[in-house]
Amino acid sequence: KQYDVILPAAGSGKRMGAGHNKLFLELREKPILIHTLEVFEQDSACKGIWLAVKPEEREYIQSLLVKYNIKKVKALPDGGAERQDSVYSCVKKVEDGEIVLVHDAARPFITIPVIHKLVEAAEEKGAVIAGVRTKDTMKKVENGVIVETVDRSNLWMIQTPQAFQFTILQEAENAAEKDQFLGTDEAMLVERLGQVVHIVESSYDNVKITTKEDLIFGEAILSQRIGG
Ligand code: CTP
Ligand code: MG
Repeated sequence: KQYDVILPAAGSGKRMGAGHNKLFLELREKPILIHTLEVFEQDSACKGIWLAVKPEEREYIQSLLVKYNIKKVKALPDGGAERQDSVYSCVKKVEDGEIVLVHDAARPFITIPVIHKLVEAAEEKGAVIAGVRTKDTMKKVENGVIVETVDRSNLWMIQTPQAFQFTILQEAENAAEKDQFLGTDEAMLVERLGQVVHIVESSYDNVKITTKEDLIFGEAILSQRIGG
């Protein structure tokens, strides 16, 4: 089953503190952004990539696409102030999507089997997101004091990809724009319309490269996968 993917790549990487977009940092001598793009480039089920970028970084990113032979990028729309704005800017460009994924460019370790599980589930169910079960004990805290220990058995840590039948994503994005509603992921925008969102169990190594420590995890994941 074929799909399109929206990759928001227009962040600043403030928590990484690299002084520039963290997606240009390299793991094994290749930018994080390219690691992510290569997964979709190599997946024959992926028809097209919609990459939200900062206008001032567009030219540099286009040069990376040439250098690393990434051919599926259909457009590089302007990102916005928030991740949601960047995703919306791509949603407006995708014309005939059937199944559309949204995936953080900062999650380079996503695997094709997980992507395909999501695509299949989205086709059947409409809206599905990747997540993993929490491992630690979870407590609700207010003013430094435990309020309650939350039952962990039904708590999930949510990742991307988030996969949708395109009309569902489009409707949710348009409604959020109209209502000036800002969510932290795409599923929230869909949930608020009363649409059921399903979960697909993903993998703990689908980390988002956010802070310096994540670069160490990233190197470790690559060593385990490709050796050395
Ligand atoms: N992103 C985006 N547009 C924004 C903010 C984020 O396209 N206005 C993208 C990032 O490039 C990243 C993904 O959304 O691929 C997830 O965001 P996050 O991990 O928070 O990255 P940054 O926003 O760059 O980092 P920080 O929040 O630390 O500044
Ligand atoms: Mg951010």
